Amino acid sequence: MPASRLTSALLSCALLFGVLANAGEISASVAVDTPLANVTAGVNATVSSSGAEVDISANIEIDSHNVKPKACHAPLPAKGTAAPSDPFWLEVIKHQGSSPHNPDPANYQVFRNVKDFGAVGDGVHDDAAAINAAIQAGNRCGGGSCPSSTITPAIVYFPKGTYLVSTSIIPYYYTQLIGDAKNPPTILAAETFSDLAVIDANPYIPNGGGAQYWINQNNFFRSIRNFVIDVRRVPADKASGTGIHWQVSQSTSLMNIVVHMSEDENTAHQGIWMENGSGGFMGDLVFNGGKYGIWGGNQQFTVRNLTINNAKTGIFSVWNWGWTYQGINLNNCQIGFDLQTPITAAQAIIDAVVTNTPIFIQTSTASNGTLAAAGSLVLNNAKLNNVGAAVAVADGTVVLAGGTKTIASWGQGNVYKGSNSQGTFQQGNLANPSKASSLLDGSGKIVGRTHPQYENYKASDFVSVKDLGAKGDGVTDDTKILNEILRKYAGCKIIFFDAGHYIVTDTVYIPPNTRMVGEAWTVLAGKGPKFSDQKHPKVVFQVGKACETGIVEITDIIFSTVGPNVAGAIIVEWNIHEPESVKAGAGMWDSHIRTGGVAGTNLENANCPRDGSAGFENCYAGFLSLHITEKASAYLEGTWVWLADHDLDGDGNSQISVYSGRGILSESQGPVWLIGTGSEHHAVYQYRLVNAANHYMGLIQTESPYYQPTPAAPTPFAYNPKYDPKPYKDDAPSAWGLSVERSRGIFIFGAGLYSFFKSYSQDCINDRKCQAQIANIDTASSVNIFSLATVAAGKQISVNSVGIIDQSANVNGFVSTVTSWSSR
Ligand SMILES: *[C@@H]1O[C@H](CO)[C@@H](O)[C@H](O)[C@H]1NC(C)=O
Ligand SMILES: *[C@@H]1O[C@H](CO)[C@@H](O)[C@H](O)[C@H]1NC(C)=O
Ligand SMILES: *[C@@H]1O[C@H](CO)[C@@H](O)[C@H](O)[C@H]1NC(C)=O
Ligand SMILES: *[C@@H]1O[C@H](CO)[C@@H](O)[C@H](O)[C@H]1NC(C)=O
Ligand SMILES: *[C@@H]1O[C@H](CO)[C@@H](O)[C@H](O)[C@H]1NC(C)=O
Repeated sequence: MPASRLTSALLSCALLFGVLANAGEISASVAVDTPLANVTAGVNATVSSSGAEVDISANIEIDSHNVKPKACHAPLPAKGTAAPSDPFWLEVIKHQGSSPHNPDPANYQVFRNVKDFGAVGDGVHDDAAAINAAIQAGNRCGGGSCPSSTITPAIVYFPKGTYLVSTSIIPYYYTQLIGDAKNPPTILAAETFSDLAVIDANPYIPNGGGAQYWINQNNFFRSIRNFVIDVRRVPADKASGTGIHWQVSQSTSLMNIVVHMSEDENTAHQGIWMENGSGGFMGDLVFNGGKYGIWGGNQQFTVRNLTINNAKTGIFSVWNWGWTYQGINLNNCQIGFDLQTPITAAQAIIDAVVTNTPIFIQTSTASNGTLAAAGSLVLNNAKLNNVGAAVAVADGTVVLAGGTKTIASWGQGNVYKGSNSQGTFQQGNLANPSKASSLLDGSGKIVGRTHPQYENYKASDFVSVKDLGAKGDGVTDDTKILNEILRKYAGCKIIFFDAGHYIVTDTVYIPPNTRMVGEAWTVLAGKGPKFSDQKHPKVVFQVGKACETGIVEITDIIFSTVGPNVAGAIIVEWNIHEPESVKAGAGMWDSHIRTGGVAGTNLENANCPRDGSAGFENCYAGFLSLHITEKASAYLEGTWVWLADHDLDGDGNSQISVYSGRGILSESQGPVWLIGTGSEHHAVYQYRLVNAANHYMGLIQTESPYYQPTPAAPTPFAYNPKYDPKPYKDDAPSAWGLSVERSRGIFIFGAGLYSFFKSYSQDCINDRKCQAQIANIDTASSVNIFSLATVAAGKQISVNSVGIIDQSANVNGFVSTVTSWSSR
């Protein structure tokens, strides 16, 4: 990069914060501590790059008239100070979370400790009934008569111990099952266990003719964490020895779970069983033994950091539209991945290590030189140690030899480049684009960072926003108190947002070094006239200011809005950049941006029915959901950016017509990791990258608004050149799933871009064309997309807004898949 460009790119941040170490290219000295008053400082910097030298001198003034002196002088210790004997903080912290829109908020209990409901945890008593009582207390959503509900959220907490169960644990809708993160509890299936799975997230109703508790594609808001599940007492040949039935959708996660299964030759045990759904993220999982680590079918999923030891088959894929596996370790399995093809439409595997496994990947059908025969498959950075065949067909044909070697980039399916509308079927090595080093860990893998749980911290390291005066009652304006709490405790305490709905009417600033933890998805929502003007959009939650550097960790929070008319709300503006030394140091985990469709939003069926009769004004839910700005870095894992298409409360079914302008906009220079994210139903675009660099995105999932093209994009929003791509010529455009402009180093590994409706009708699915175009990349960008699956978009990729890749050339069951497209 020429020195002059470097200078202009970094100048403002460099001067303000003295964060100058950029590959030794700039050096300067200015120290600015947390400002307590306005600070004026002089700085001189020397920039040198490829021989050129530029001197910069400037004066800066830090405007900090709003900053209150900090009361808390002791920074949060870098490493937790909890003694081994201290309980996990979540167990002992004051429990005062509430659900303000519940009919009986004063008595509704969010946090439940299974021991308070009679569970013993000694490995001897049968605790199933007590655990299910803890789950069900408070007239919650389950049993088959309740499609969904957000007003009965619950954390069901398991202290350390061994919980013997003779029947399934059934987590009701909107439940987080959380084990002691310091000493993960064991759930031990009894020898007589004969249900579907130890934890069943969507039971079949007995004698229900196949009916289940919830519609699989609407089974949202679930998480299970910190457990050891042991099914080894169940006879080896019984499939009831299954850890988790996980038939779920978006905003769901599994994390930090170990499943122990029988290693007998006749084992029928399974870690996860999942027949369908629309996921979802799972990560940090270990499966030992069993017939299958995962047996599953689901539209899409992102799996990060999965280890499978000694299974007969690591992963059996029944069907999919597209799954991304990132960081997979397979040891001593007979088959790593067994793919039912071509109905497993798109499988993408990155950063795998496979050891002592005769077959890494087996497809059920042989490719015959066309995509249709065996689906799309992509491997990137797969390290084999003593592997028989890397890719083989069930009939024994070896497609790619194994051995001890690294597969840099290999694929099977249709490959495209640039504006060439002609693809070629390939079964072999693919070009291996380099990934920005900022995205990689020391071993060259895409960085992964586990959802922080602060298990090494003591309860006294936390403060509760309710203790400090915030109300979270869905009514009180908590803007001022939340701003004060965040300023005062960022960097000093972990800030616990007790369950509730916290309403704010002006910008809330989340400073560097904030750790904020929600409880069963604490809702923070912007409301009121400050957020109503789409000509002058205003930020609701500002995460750092431009150029600020520091840790930010946001977990189990939902950012939202309350209507009517928040057409000018930029819900989250993400400015923070991780510290140089902490990869993925600024991020969100299991945190979502959700607008409309739930109690308290005033953007429900009663206000904004599907027929549009309420008009636009009353039904604006937001301007832009997430803006990752130029100087930011971001690690988002399991984030769902959802404008509701139907009510989750009310009758739980009715479609609604609410309007949000834009999903995720990134202008960041990176590193940005979007791991298991989705963005749905925004009017102009779901994902847009402009002047951005160095992003890893896998898997991304989108849906266009169901009402489009009545009205067509961008209506009811006005075209806004600062936020929107230039409108393109089309009779009746729908939203872009993905738009990339003037961006470089964009590595997309798994994308599911869907269009299911045209003016609320699904007839267009049969024609495989609910909208004409869905993903646009301009010729000024350098982008690689692997494993793209689209539904009912006429053109899968457009270049400079001209449709290039016709879906009809890539038909792969319900979806159309492109195995690789590169901009150049
Ligand atoms: C910047 O350089 C000028 C000229 O060399 C010098 O007078 C001034 O003290 C320097 N300022 C700082 C903050 O180092
Ligand atoms: C700091 O700056 C603000 C506006 O820039 C000004 O209103 C305020 O008086 C200044 N405070 C001090 C202590 O100089
Ligand atoms: C779910 O998957 C099962 C097993 O593959 C299949 O029989 C069933 O039809 C699917 N149900 C839905 C609603 O997709
Ligand atoms: C992967 O998961 C295992 C098991 O939970 C954990 O010990 C390990 O730290 C994780 N690794 C990464 C890179 O997240
Ligand atoms: C390849 O297999 C597909 C799917 O079975 C079939 O439709 C197609 O006709 C076959 N093509 C050739 C060239 O054999």
